[in-house]
Amino acid sequence: MRPTVRVESLQIIPTGAGAGAEVSAPDFALNRITEVQFEALYRAWLDHLVLLVRGQHLSDDDLIAFSRRFGQLDWAPIQESGRRFVEGHPELYVVSNVIENGVPIGSLGAGEAAWHTDMSYQERPPKASILYALEVPPGGGDTWFCNMYRAYGSLPAALRERIAGMRLKHDATYNSGGYVRQGSIAVDDPLTSAGVYHPLAPVHPETGRRMLYLGRRRNAYIDGLPLAESEALLDELWSYAARQEHSWRHQWQKGDLVLWDNRCTMHRRDSFDSASRRILHRTQIQGETVPSA
Ligand code: SIN
Repeated sequence: MRPTVRVESLQIIPTGAGAGAEVSAPDFALNRITEVQFEALYRAWLDHLVLLVRGQHLSDDDLIAFSRRFGQLDWAPIQESGRRFVEGHPELYVVSNVIENGVPIGSLGAGEAAWHTDMSYQERPPKASILYALEVPPGGGDTWFCNMYRAYGSLPAALRERIAGMRLKHDATYNSGGYVRQGSIAVDDPLTSAGVYHPLAPVHPETGRRMLYLGRRRNAYIDGLPLAESEALLDELWSYAARQEHSWRHQWQKGDLVLWDNRCTMHRRDSFDSASRRILHRTQIQGETVPSA
């Protein structure tokens, strides 16, 4: 396990799991972060893939302003209910099971959310996502993060050689909760479902490290292979990706902010009691085309 690092007043404490570190400092408030602290945080984010900062008190404007320090923001996807955005904040995606006046205020309900990379059905998927907890249930709803550098590193050499240069279709039909995205038609044939192709084992544009880039399992398809062969190869790759030794599990507290590198991680969420309330606000930082080499 990597040791705790101190930069300026910041302590960066690795989780000791497959990914992640907690960042803390006395009275650390992300809406007052200094330039030097931000540089240390950015470096730690590239090194640890997922960062946790506890005890924050952020308004939506604070969350957006902090997120903008990483780059321009993507607009949030339309929610399953057809509800577009948080009024006045098109950058905010609401993850919630809460229903108000008969209408869900957010996405993904209270069920399990399957392993995925956010919005990888876009030509330019977000480079980062930032999730801030406003209300959390007393139990359940933990979020797991998986380190896709480690997943790639754990593949047998022959499998790495086999997938070199291959491209994978990332499905645009279903979200991670299994709901059909607004404007999509339910299609369960990976050959014909809507989506975009990305390299299966790209190099991270900032760290130069190679990773496995799977996006999500449902309706995934490896370009040019017979469907049965694509399915078998994907099952084999997934058996390496979603291993506990590559992962870190986060148990949420109110005021937690979790920031992940959306290029070299996947995440999933446990289900929780639908009678309890869970509300998190998420931003997405614009990314680039996934590099082909
Ligand atoms: C997400 O996939 O962005 C949401 C994860 C969660 O609900 O914890």
